[in-house]
Amino acid sequence: MNKAVFFWSTWALLSVYLVILAGAVVRMTGSGMGCPDWPKCFGYLIPPTERSQLDWQPDKSYKKGNVIILDNTLQVAIQTFESGDTIDLKNWEVYTKHDYTTFNATHTWVEFINRLLGAISGLIVLGLFVRSLWWIRKQPLLPIFSFFAVVGMGVQAWLGKTVVDSNLLPSKISLHMIMALLIVSVLLFVRAKSHGKQLKQPSKNLLMLIVGSFVLTLIQFGLGVDVRQFIDYQIKQAGSNAPQLWLDRPEISFYIHRSLSLAVVVLSVWIYKLVVKERLTQKYIQFIIGCILVEIILGILMYYVDFPWGTQPLHLLIAALLFSAQLYWLLRIKLKSYDLSI
Ligand code: HEM
Repeated sequence: MNKAVFFWSTWALLSVYLVILAGAVVRMTGSGMGCPDWPKCFGYLIPPTERSQLDWQPDKSYKKGNVIILDNTLQVAIQTFESGDTIDLKNWEVYTKHDYTTFNATHTWVEFINRLLGAISGLIVLGLFVRSLWWIRKQPLLPIFSFFAVVGMGVQAWLGKTVVDSNLLPSKISLHMIMALLIVSVLLFVRAKSHGKQLKQPSKNLLMLIVGSFVLTLIQFGLGVDVRQFIDYQIKQAGSNAPQLWLDRPEISFYIHRSLSLAVVVLSVWIYKLVVKERLTQKYIQFIIGCILVEIILGILMYYVDFPWGTQPLHLLIAALLFSAQLYWLLRIKLKSYDLSI
């Protein structure tokens, strides 16, 4: 095992799951526009805590990019300057990417913490890349894939900006989520590759079933994302305080999403039986079945008990863990020991 890269990739993965959870909490609390600009928050590295800090103030030194709220518009300082006794509009320009001008300190700080965690996670992924460079000759796939992860984090940050610029367009949020899964996939590859030891091979039938259940999870993911987009629109129409209306008349994708879970359970139990029969390690399938059961309980709570607090972020996090466990298991089965391949 390549201990150093294994260690760094484990921490990189944990940090990305934390960012996924934080992003889901941002959505649950409706904090997505807590910082109307990007990458700074109202033009500051540390965001304001009170609405009055965003009023124009006399004799204050403003830096380029600082934001104030004036007559229901966001105004951005076009240069660094000292404000006098009265406001000089020549120093300001209207922010035109969207017209969202509400300030809510909780939303701002929830979004700010999400961005902070994203930045910390980016640094850990960068650390993984630097550490993997030690292995550029012996195991070039490690630095190459770690580099993909660094690029992925950069693209993800940019996608985060497009989400804010679009005032939280549901399709942009989905793209942001898909990118998170791509990053997770690349990191899982690095972790599996740095482990170095291939798992005992399952029979062809069992391998096909494991691949099939992974594909089924991907379909569940796609349907789930569609359900989430629908709910995002419902929240805009019915309001965030009326969860009983969000799935009042769901689209067909919701019913398929709900029913397909049964197929996922049946397939996983079948896989479990074969794993026991073929005397393979049981930890992956046990974890996978655990995730599926928790996922179904959370889904039932959301639908029948009107989205109790925390169920939405947890449903997403567990789905990401389920995806990861299935992909990692397949990688550990398929990736040859590193001393045998490049
Ligand atoms: C294997 C089982 C399941 C998996 C892998 C799964 C996965 C997902 C995923 C990935 C999302 C998108 C989350 C997001 O983008 O934030 C989602 C959303 C959703 N799923 Fe599932 N799901 C499963 C079972 C169920 C079941 C059984 C139900 C209902 C009885 C359900 C109800 C929902 C609802 C209501 C949403 C929208 C959540 C939101 O607004 O945050 N899911 N699911």
